[in-house]
Amino acid sequence: MIPQSVAEIIAVGLLPYPVKSIEEHGDGLINFTYKINTKNPDHPNFLLQKINSRFFRNVDGLQHNIRLVTDHIRKKLEEEGCKDINRHVLTPECIQCNGSCQAYYWDHNGDYWRMYVFIENANTFEKIGNPAMAELAGKAFGRFHRHLSDFDAKDFCEVLPNFHNTPLRVESLRKTIEIDPEGRLDKVRSDVDFLLSRVERYSKIIEMGDKGLIPKRIIHQDPKFNNVLFDKNGELLCVIDLDTVMPGYVCYDLGDSIRTGANRGEEDDRNPDNVGLDMDICKGIIKGYLSEAKSFLTPAELDSLAYGPALITYEHAVRFLDDYLDGDKYFKYKTSYPQHNLVRARAQIKLLQSMEESYDKIAGFVKSLS
Ligand SMILES: Nc1ncnc2c1ncn2[C@@H]1O[C@H](COP(=O)(O)OP(=O)(O)OP(=O)(O)O)[C@@H](O)[C@H]1O
Ligand SMILES: [Mg+2]
Repeated sequence: MIPQSVAEIIAVGLLPYPVKSIEEHGDGLINFTYKINTKNPDHPNFLLQKINSRFFRNVDGLQHNIRLVTDHIRKKLEEEGCKDINRHVLTPECIQCNGSCQAYYWDHNGDYWRMYVFIENANTFEKIGNPAMAELAGKAFGRFHRHLSDFDAKDFCEVLPNFHNTPLRVESLRKTIEIDPEGRLDKVRSDVDFLLSRVERYSKIIEMGDKGLIPKRIIHQDPKFNNVLFDKNGELLCVIDLDTVMPGYVCYDLGDSIRTGANRGEEDDRNPDNVGLDMDICKGIIKGYLSEAKSFLTPAELDSLAYGPALITYEHAVRFLDDYLDGDKYFKYKTSYPQHNLVRARAQIKLLQSMEESYDKIAGFVKSLS
């Protein structure tokens, strides 16, 4: 069913071209993405998306960032002689409001909407099926970093400050442990001990950054495989879902794409035996990533890469456990049964153990390609 807000956007004439039809897009249970088909075949179709303003309070800043980043990538593609630029970078489309071009529309419910030009005959995949796909995943985010490697971030808004500040996440866990608001601490003491015994190891990247040893760059910060768009013929097109694009360290994106893409089990696997690092997929992601990123990374950044997977997995374990102890408040939207946060935390701990065991292999592989 098309919500009234979407009908309103069409009815009020906020779109640049006459509309033929609207359809839900994607297969999510709650759909906030719509395809707008325009009447004239010479006009592009559009993707209309509701912005999640629960997480992103600064919608102006968010849309401003996306415009800056996509403009920059577009310029790079032009310089490289890319023939089909509109398929290799997202194109934000403005919404006509009160005679001017706005980056988003604020509807009568207080919801925010934005539009992109629709990239036809393209799709995403939920899972990385084999090392060749893993290589494309790595390549997508490596290319994204390469295109933004000379981006001047002075006008950029940090829409989610401290998103990957591991020591701050640990501090929050410590505070929750002190209060133990739900009386759940006794049940998870060994998990807490496991995580707190590693604080120093996983503060290293932030410390290197603070000392100026590794640069902050504009990175994606949600580098899941389903945020990579492919052509129907399997060709890599572009990275999508740019809401979280913010300054950070490159090892965060490489790490999170391995955390989410190279886990043999599920993020919330109830059976820890299923969970572990799939080394072939992990190597594929690294290989694809470095094929694009090797050209601009500093030696210290290259060294930092092998820390990424375990660091980001550690951070997620800390956040899930913190939220479990705190009564499932933050990840409420991700919990569908009472122990869900705890199951997630334990699955991340299992994955972390497997990554720690493979650390030397990962570091050796990065070195062999650097
Ligand atoms: N410009 C585009 N052209 C065509 N399809 C697109 C475009 N941008 C996104 N999509 C499609 O819309 C889907 C959702 O986009 P996106 O990842 O931005 O939103 P999301 O909030 O993460 O939604 P979901 O939870 O469904 O992944 C993508 O999986 C992709 O198939
Ligand atoms: Mg997405």
